[in-house]
Amino acid sequence: MIDVMKMFKARMYMKRNEPFLYSWHAYVGYELDLFKAFERPMAKEDVADAFGLDEKLLEQWVVIGVSIGHLKEAGRGRYKIANAWKLPKTKGDNSSGVLLKEMMELHIPTLLHYPEMMRNRNRLHYDEEKHAGTVAETSRLLEVLAMPKMAKRIREINAKTVLDIGCGEGGYIKKLARRFPDTQFNGIEISEEVTRKAKRLTEEDDNIIVENANLWDYNPSEPFDMVMMNNVLHYIDLEKRKALIFELAGWVSPGGILSIVTPIAGNSEDPPFANVFNSFFSSFDNLYRLPTREELKGWGAAAGLEMLGIHTVIKEGGWYITQYRKPE
Ligand SMILES: C[S@@+](CC[C@H](N)C(=O)[O-])C[C@H]1O[C@@H](n2cnc3c(N)ncnc32)[C@H](O)[C@@H]1O
Repeated sequence: MIDVMKMFKARMYMKRNEPFLYSWHAYVGYELDLFKAFERPMAKEDVADAFGLDEKLLEQWVVIGVSIGHLKEAGRGRYKIANAWKLPKTKGDNSSGVLLKEMMELHIPTLLHYPEMMRNRNRLHYDEEKHAGTVAETSRLLEVLAMPKMAKRIREINAKTVLDIGCGEGGYIKKLARRFPDTQFNGIEISEEVTRKAKRLTEEDDNIIVENANLWDYNPSEPFDMVMMNNVLHYIDLEKRKALIFELAGWVSPGGILSIVTPIAGNSEDPPFANVFNSFFSSFDNLYRLPTREELKGWGAAAGLEMLGIHTVIKEGGWYITQYRKPE
């Protein structure tokens, strides 16, 4: 009886872990551009040759690809991609593959450190420069969903100036600047490398200025009609968050908007992904847990802001956009 249970559980663990294979396979394909290589029927040896890859390992990757339906046989020993819609697009093309990259290179290795961190009561250190590029790119995947909620506020109050704090690659301000050509958009970003990329991507937009700056040293000479801070709160020490929202309220013109995108977590009824996110952030001595709904309400009230609402961006990830209005 015991042995039957043992087998049952072992099989259950394996079964439950099967989805990992799909993500792993897609990640390797994305990272090495292999889905592009197999867009047309190709022999494994030729791809290994052309890409300078280990032939045996590529062969294994192809076998798994066929068994999970990412690849199919295409006659004369050749293979090609199958179910292309399920596969990530090529790198750099605003591809969803960057999310796989972040999960596989950052989230999963971090979570695997849990036993060691718990035993030794230590934390990892988040290497800002190493991951800033990937993280800025994955955050951009949310743009399409969050953008309409920002645009709505800009239109409502006819905002003439907008500040984006921790603007990453400048994805939000770029899209908004095209939609609102008479509004001036300023972005600040702490990472030099990411700032360079944001500047390059927005160089043709006359109504965008991106600066390499730390929000803690930033001192705007004039208030902005709208101040945004998207996916930055987990970089801010818990003790400093209330004071930061107070400070940001001072950067907003009377009647203006403060708009914050962040996942919200902390309750067991929050979606599992949001709570795992929290475990991930908590693994680093320089990243901090996500805010709760109550905190977001409390900080706004303490800063004299009127809460406009906390709206869903992605339910499964527990992602929300919180917006406040500064009284006239
Ligand atoms: C997760 S990314 C989000 C990028 C963008 N706001 C978005 O939502 O797509 C967070 C960005 O905030 C930047 N950042 C973190 N701390 C900052 C600070 N103190 N001052 C300015 N930027 C900061 C990071 O370098 C990173 O590019």
